Amino acid sequence: MDKTIELLMCAPDHFGIRYVINPWMEGNINRAVPETAIEQWQNLARVLGEHAQVHLVRPQAGLPDMVFTANAGLVLGRRVVLSRFLHRERQGEEAHFKRWFAEHGFTVDELPADLPFEGAGDALLQRGKEPWLWAGYGFRSELDSHPLLAERLRLDVVSLRLMDKRFYHLDTCLCPLEDGYLLYYPHAFDARSNQQIEERVPAERRIAVQEPDAVNFACNAVNLGRVLVMNQASLELKERLQSSGFQPIESPMSEFMKAGGGAKCLTLRLTEPAAKKSRARCSTESRVVSLKGHLLDSGLLNHALDVAVEGGGSFRILNFKLGLQRQSTSVAEVKISAPAADVLDKIIGQLIDLGATIDTPKPSQARLVAITQAGVAPDDFYATTIYPTEVCVDGDWVRVQGQRMDAVVVVDTNGNETTAHCRLLRDLKVGERVVVGVDGIRTVRQPEARADRGDLTGKEEFGFMESSVSSERRVELVVEQIAWEWRRIRQRGGKAVVVAGPVVIHTGGAEHLAYLIREGYVQALLGGNAIAVHDIEQALLGTSLGIDLQHGRSVHGGHQHHLRAINLIRRCGKISAAVEQGLLKSGVMYECVRKRVPFALAGSIRDDGPLPDTQMNLVKAQAAYAQLLQGADLILMLSSMLHSIGVGNMTPAGVKLVCVDINPAVVTKLADRGSVESVGVVTDVGLFLSLLEQQLRKLEATTTAA
Ligand code: ARG
Repeated sequence: MDKTIELLMCAPDHFGIRYVINPWMEGNINRAVPETAIEQWQNLARVLGEHAQVHLVRPQAGLPDMVFTANAGLVLGRRVVLSRFLHRERQGEEAHFKRWFAEHGFTVDELPADLPFEGAGDALLQRGKEPWLWAGYGFRSELDSHPLLAERLRLDVVSLRLMDKRFYHLDTCLCPLEDGYLLYYPHAFDARSNQQIEERVPAERRIAVQEPDAVNFACNAVNLGRVLVMNQASLELKERLQSSGFQPIESPMSEFMKAGGGAKCLTLRLTEPAAKKSRARCSTESRVVSLKGHLLDSGLLNHALDVAVEGGGSFRILNFKLGLQRQSTSVAEVKISAPAADVLDKIIGQLIDLGATIDTPKPSQARLVAITQAGVAPDDFYATTIYPTEVCVDGDWVRVQGQRMDAVVVVDTNGNETTAHCRLLRDLKVGERVVVGVDGIRTVRQPEARADRGDLTGKEEFGFMESSVSSERRVELVVEQIAWEWRRIRQRGGKAVVVAGPVVIHTGGAEHLAYLIREGYVQALLGGNAIAVHDIEQALLGTSLGIDLQHGRSVHGGHQHHLRAINLIRRCGKISAAVEQGLLKSGVMYECVRKRVPFALAGSIRDDGPLPDTQMNLVKAQAAYAQLLQGADLILMLSSMLHSIGVGNMTPAGVKLVCVDINPAVVTKLADRGSVESVGVVTDVGLFLSLLEQQLRKLEATTTAA
């Protein structure tokens, strides 16, 4: 064997587990057995020495991880890009590796300070006619190092996102082999990265391992020609490797695995062909956004950075001006990077929804594309949120009308007047121009100070009420607040809309809701077929779904009661006719008819009947809901998940939402819209309504008395 391959290793004289910087090290402090470690390392060096020439760098006291020379840097030709360790614990190694490279005739290339990059631990060459570099990010190396690698090494770089913290370095879960083969553990990567791998490596060259092999560091292999040296591989994997022409050799690594490293980590390949591409590609892109507001108080900054990282990108805070007083806002300038333009756009879109603005030299213009197929938008259409939104058209910011969630923005220019509207996909007409991409869009978020997150509305309160131990006293407090506010809305002629499910009737809430309607608190009622059916059943027959509400007992034959109620209304033609004919004399629907409170009942697949009043055409039902919701100041959602979600989507931020449900998950889903004006109450809805009526009556009594 001609030893044209050269490796760098470092003897384990000072090796040990002295700190924890990866999950493997947890619980292993001082647990590596020195004699065993030395024996394992020497065995590895011997095996590798049969196929390659091994160079040594002198170990240093106080740098126990220096044995992992893979992290010294990334070598290509006679050039090395030196590592910048993320963790302070390993940064001391940099100078020693640098000296070794310089003394051995390498050109040492250093990345900007504060840009973590952990060398061949996170960057692996796929050799071949057109070589490229697989580069990992997510735990140790920063995504922003990837374009610099491409530029300095003149090599295409493919960014791969690591998702499993046990596989924190790329070389723990991916190993390019001779002849275009790739040994890897797919679950360590996100979907997009797997796609990249599958696009670049044909199926017959991909050797995907299962978890048991992965956690045995089978992918952390040293590939020298057809030889593959690793800690351990299952029989199955060995066969697969052999049938692809590789010779697996096991060399036990137990002591080094306690530090989170295997065979490959203990080596650095010094002989890699230099790349000569004149124009190297790296699809990583970045943009700078500005965030303003109570960034720390409200958690907005955290949230924004989470959005970037969870979306597969990365961030760098370029500037941060902290507002020092409780009332003062902060400003942050954040550079967001992502492995590709589409990933970046997605992240930026979400940040815009949080109120971020994109920094560009010129004010950016919204991109408009004309609709070519009715009811269908271009792929990259901008989807709206509940927050006030503005789009920049011809240099002017135009406020979007009819703000709602999950719509498209249609821009209309008439002479020199430009307007923008939210429009549902299905309503798009050919020729209309809609906003696409993320440029020239901003959402206007109210700065949300700590002070605004009142006792009853803040997240903390929310968390408290979610817990099963929410005391009745707490519910009473929320009810007091709602009653106080609701009276003010009624006084000023405001609008309150109630969205209610049949549980309101089953839990005995009908009489209280009827009271609210009778007293002029409710300006519109939204629900499905069921609330009306069971309300009418109760008014006519005293049962709700066959249960006698007075005694709580099921009535013989009561399960058909609701059908009899439906039948009666059908005979009359509609609910209001039954009231006029004196057949329906009480209840929620009765009060609506009497007080001329408009209602909309939206049908669904499980509806019996339905009542003549129920709108079974859902597109029409949605429109009826939207119309009744116009101008609402307060929306009360009473145990109806689906109708409430529908209403939530149609409602812009700024409308007070009160969501009551016995199921905390429903309350969380509905009330946590990221805006201060939502209140969630986890309690029995009948009880809630009864408390509310009591409280309102109390307030009435004191005002009349005064
Ligand atoms: N304890 C070391 C660390 O966490 C192990 C490094 C393993 N090296 C590697 N190339 N995966 O940094």
